Amino acid sequence: MAKKYTVLETWIVNETKPEESNSASQTYDRMGQQAAGKLPVIDVEQDFQDEKHFYDEARIRDFVAHLAGAATVLDIGPGDGWPLLRIAPFFKSVTGIDPSQKRVDGCQANAEKLGITNVTVKKLSAMELDFKDNSFDGVVAASSIEQCADPFQVLREVFRVLKPGGKFRVEFECFSQQEKGVTERVFLTETEESLGYHYVLQHHRPPWERNYLVKLSNEPETNKAFKKLADLIERIGPNPSLNPEVGLQFLERNQAAITKSSWYELEHFTSVTMKETLEEVGFVNVRISFSAATLARTMWPRIKESGLSDEQVKNVLQGLADVAVRLDAPASLGEPVVAVKPSNL
Ligand SMILES: C[S@@+](CC[C@H](N)C(=O)[O-])C[C@H]1O[C@@H](n2cnc3c(N)ncnc32)[C@H](O)[C@@H]1O
Repeated sequence: MAKKYTVLETWIVNETKPEESNSASQTYDRMGQQAAGKLPVIDVEQDFQDEKHFYDEARIRDFVAHLAGAATVLDIGPGDGWPLLRIAPFFKSVTGIDPSQKRVDGCQANAEKLGITNVTVKKLSAMELDFKDNSFDGVVAASSIEQCADPFQVLREVFRVLKPGGKFRVEFECFSQQEKGVTERVFLTETEESLGYHYVLQHHRPPWERNYLVKLSNEPETNKAFKKLADLIERIGPNPSLNPEVGLQFLERNQAAITKSSWYELEHFTSVTMKETLEEVGFVNVRISFSAATLARTMWPRIKESGLSDEQVKNVLQGLADVAVRLDAPASLGEPVVAVKPSNL
């Protein structure tokens, strides 16, 4: 199906002539803290009365269970440290690579704050890893493979740096779960130099995403207009087609303050296309397997009333993860994938 261009997109392309960019420099280098500074343990104290903290602990236990027996682990695109800093206590050494300097700095600062000493964080793209062949016992990735410009090249690199017999556990934003058709949203960022108007379009099938960044000069007048826009988005929602006040109307009114723009496109996956791509790269025993977090959802109503201590909750989740690693999931549920590099290479 031919790609459709929205009215707002056409305006941005014609009026601002965006340069091609990538997710690391256009988006992740501009974000304040990742996950709005709410990563449990890393940013805020872990609290098992909070449902999300319970599922996040399950996700950590899932990575750890899949990589059982590994000593050296690589995390592709950990951002501010997820899952890198949380899985670090379970392995001899963990390495995180991310091309965004801001994320690398944030991750290193978080490692220091938490007193984690077996972690190395490098500014590097997964498309050109500078590690030797067969360097790591295991590799993990959370919502990062699909943020790279060439995911196929990244998966080839993951294969190359994994030791024979090593495992790769990959979580990703699964587009079989995506709302049908095109979805659109605007979000805003601010740095000292510029105000960032971000426009994101996602398409369910085939699964793709286009991102635009329109930069405006951070002058008092425009800054005021930006704050008003932020309030408006909060009140009426971020969809600029439904609400032109947060779309075309805002950009046209503030056109004189626009200094620069950029864009990038992403290819997204479903569990099936991730599995097939990993097989194409050479991985074996590639399985769509239940995340421990999905199983944990069924337990939450009982756990929250259980009065278990934090240690007991963690033990329950570790047990759940040890079971989850064996459970294949139906392709339609959008569960993560696990793959093995053949041991006879
Ligand atoms: C959605 S965030 C996920 C961060 C973290 N794994 C998490 O789950 O919170 C995507 C991350 O992928 C990183 N990324 C983008 N392009 C990359 C590339 N070529 N190689 C490695 N990481 C990349 C981004 O900088 C960002 O930190």
